[in-house]
Amino acid sequence: MPIFDFARQALFLLDPETAHGASIAALKSGLVPACPVRPDKRLAVRVAGLDFPNPIGLAAGYDKNAEVPEALLRLGFGFTEVGTLTPKPQAGNPKPRIFRLVEDNAVINRLGFNNEGHDAAFRRLSALKTTGIVGVNIGANKDAEDRIADYVIGIRRFYRLARYFTVNISSPNTPGLRDLQARESLSALLSAVLEARRQEGEQAGRKVPVFLKIAPDLTEEGMDDIAAEVLAHDLDGLIVSNTTLSRDGLKDQAQAKEAGGLSGAPLFARSTAVLARMRKRIGPKMPIIGVGGVSSAETALEKIRAGADLVQLYSCMVYRGPGLAGDILKGLSASLDRLGVSSVTELRDTATDHWAAKTL
Ligand code: FNR
Repeated sequence: MPIFDFARQALFLLDPETAHGASIAALKSGLVPACPVRPDKRLAVRVAGLDFPNPIGLAAGYDKNAEVPEALLRLGFGFTEVGTLTPKPQAGNPKPRIFRLVEDNAVINRLGFNNEGHDAAFRRLSALKTTGIVGVNIGANKDAEDRIADYVIGIRRFYRLARYFTVNISSPNTPGLRDLQARESLSALLSAVLEARRQEGEQAGRKVPVFLKIAPDLTEEGMDDIAAEVLAHDLDGLIVSNTTLSRDGLKDQAQAKEAGGLSGAPLFARSTAVLARMRKRIGPKMPIIGVGGVSSAETALEKIRAGADLVQLYSCMVYRGPGLAGDILKGLSASLDRLGVSSVTELRDTATDHWAAKTL
């Protein structure tokens, strides 16, 4: 999409948060052309009872307030995820709070769950006409007295609108949030969330899948604990991973000093290694969505080979533009031709051992 080269130059003159707002406005206005990708049945994936037309999704954080899910699906994404949404609107951290590390193809953000809250997103999601898969990523307000209760409110509020839920306990920008990954807290959280899902599901006559999104900064013991709790509950899958606190291997040392979560290319190896380690721990049945540094068909395929059923991306779209999903899909189809496989799912787990052995 050569027009993006021009648009990128213009957007990169703006500070990252203003550029993000401009890209949402462009998607809303219809200025961004849809990306017509010929559907390839070999890329279709059935996960947690949902039929995904292809395995490439847009990760949470881009469309926090559910403003443009339909426009994003028209770019070729097989699914998109709104949020993180908290019950009450909240402003997040002081600006500036998003930083581009251009040489590294990376982003650091410390937004802190800025979002318009449940009501605004509920209104927008209620008006959607798409049959495409739109997931709802839920979180807790910074000042919540009972954080677990905020997740339960999210499940109840969006039950009839969400095709799936993501329980996000891995943002590094809400102090203490990642503590919910510790074994006892996680057990209490999953029990409460999944009980709310059971009750709502009985009334709605539909079981909405619930995924848990985890950090890439876990110790081996932390991964053991999460795996044990996940297997002990009726959870539908894991999303691996959120942004990292690590600053290993960055070229842009000045920006690297900014506090917040790092995403994009430098997160790829770490998040893929954690994905493979979690796949080995939880076994072949439970779905995993692989996220972190996906920039191409090759990197998407590597996530699948490490153990992912589905893949998400965000940061590399900042650098590569709105045509990235379409490019990845074409590349995946070409890879399947080359490898002579009839479904992308055949490639899952073909490099799990390789990735699980990488040092973090
Ligand atoms: C994010 N991410 C994120 N994740 C989440 O669960 N809730 C959120 O609100 C956000 N917000 C957010 C904002 C910004 C500016 C970025 C860059 C990222 C994390 C995102 O969904 C993803 O897990 C990571 O960014 C890793 O994937 P990429 O960006 O390397 O493809």
